[in-house]
Amino acid sequence: MPYPERRPRRLRTTETMRRMVRETQLTPSDLVLPLFAMPGKDQRNEVGSMPGVFQLSVDQIVRDAREAHDAGVPAVILFGLPEHKDGEGSSGWDPEGPVARSVAALKDAMPELVVITDVCMCEYTDHGHCGKLVRTRSGRVEVDNDATLELLCKEALCHARAGADIVAPSDMMDGRIGAIRDALDGDGFSEVAILSYAAKYASAFYGPFRDAADSAPKEGDRRGYQMDPANAREALAEVELDLDEGADMVMVKPALSYLDIITKVRELSDVPVAAYNVSGEYSMVKAAAAAGCIDGTRVMLEILTSIKRAGADLILSYHATEAARALGG
Ligand code: PBG
Repeated sequence: MPYPERRPRRLRTTETMRRMVRETQLTPSDLVLPLFAMPGKDQRNEVGSMPGVFQLSVDQIVRDAREAHDAGVPAVILFGLPEHKDGEGSSGWDPEGPVARSVAALKDAMPELVVITDVCMCEYTDHGHCGKLVRTRSGRVEVDNDATLELLCKEALCHARAGADIVAPSDMMDGRIGAIRDALDGDGFSEVAILSYAAKYASAFYGPFRDAADSAPKEGDRRGYQMDPANAREALAEVELDLDEGADMVMVKPALSYLDIITKVRELSDVPVAAYNVSGEYSMVKAAAAAGCIDGTRVMLEILTSIKRAGADLILSYHATEAARALGG
């Protein structure tokens, strides 16, 4: 027999044919745009390591969110750059802080836009860790899990009061989902959903974000609370705990080096799974494209499609607006 019986190439002949048999369709509705909120007015500071990403004052947040929304992106997630940092991160629950004010301005301007807030202390503490520090009896300085839970609840409540639809704790303290759920319900915010950063790895891919959010730890690192990149079973255990505590959605972060984890979490859980295409993944594409090494738009779409193919229902990405436009949104 001169030819094999099955010839998959028959179905690859034209773009229409390929479109017809395509298994994964990336759409603007899959995307969430992260935005960095700072004090002031008319402020747009480009982040050096992330071309096209800016620290934005509230008015500019509304502008960029509107662009994303117009391109078909359904949601934004907000990070805060406070005027003042201290040991506890008390600006994290300031109702006049840039995140709370941005939430209110966004819900006012675009009530149908889904507004998510990142809940973590590292943007607000002067030491840059994700919670309150204590010295243990053995003399080690570490984040105090239970004392931090109280602070996270205050922050989540502040965001809920401002009008957030979803709060997203990214700190990796144990028990935070249950504590935040109780705090929200106790204050009449039972309709506010929780997106848990359930499987968050101690990753070097967060480097550019820490420039953007000015949140690099002054001393030490986050390996005491974020996960070891070598572990997969542990991710599933973290996800199960967060689901038991009432998480409405779970996230895997970063995305690209953790596609296997996304697939496993998808198989384990029946809630929507999010994946965070993080700052370092974005910066690599931008740098390689600027150097003429790759076609930036095609690589961007290939990466986002692979994250969806792995099992993500939504993708947080600095590419969101650009990708939505490239997809015709
Ligand atoms: C806060 C937080 C981080 C990111 C999202 N939330 C930084 C960190 O854990 O150091 C990183 C996002 C990115 O790299 O794009 N804990």
